[in-house]
Amino acid sequence: MKVFIAGATGVLGRRLIRQLTVRGHSVVGQVRSARSESIVQALGGNPRHADLFDAESLAKASGRLRHP
Ligand SMILES: NC(=O)c1ccc[n+]([C@@H]2O[C@H](COP(=O)([O-])OP(=O)(O)OC[C@H]3O[C@@H](n4cnc5c(N)ncnc54)[C@H](OP(=O)(O)O)[C@@H]3O)[C@@H](O)[C@H]2O)c1
Repeated sequence: MKVFIAGATGVLGRRLIRQLTVRGHSVVGQVRSARSESIVQALGGNPRHADLFDAESLAKASGRLRHP
């Protein structure tokens, strides 16, 4: 399953990335900084930059799920 996680570096997001990737799911984690990008990668996810208050950036980051 392909999963998009907003807030991927938060308390919930970090745990979700780990739990989903160890079960073989493909996880895209929304991030806002280079530091967060490294965190998502280290947990096994694929980081994509977006801001939740910027609809265009969010659509672009999540939309790529359908067109890998
Ligand atoms: N933890 C709980 O037990 C719990 C329980 C019930 C509900 N919730 C709700 O679930 C949500 C996540 O909780 P959490 O504990 O994981 O929160 P958290 O640890 O504070 O993490 C927040 C996450 O959201 C990201 N974020 C914040 N503003 C953003 C924006 N404008 N655009 C993009 N990303 C943004 C942060 O990214 P950066 O790293 O870039 O700042 C971070 O990854 C919250 O709404 C919280 O109220 C949490």
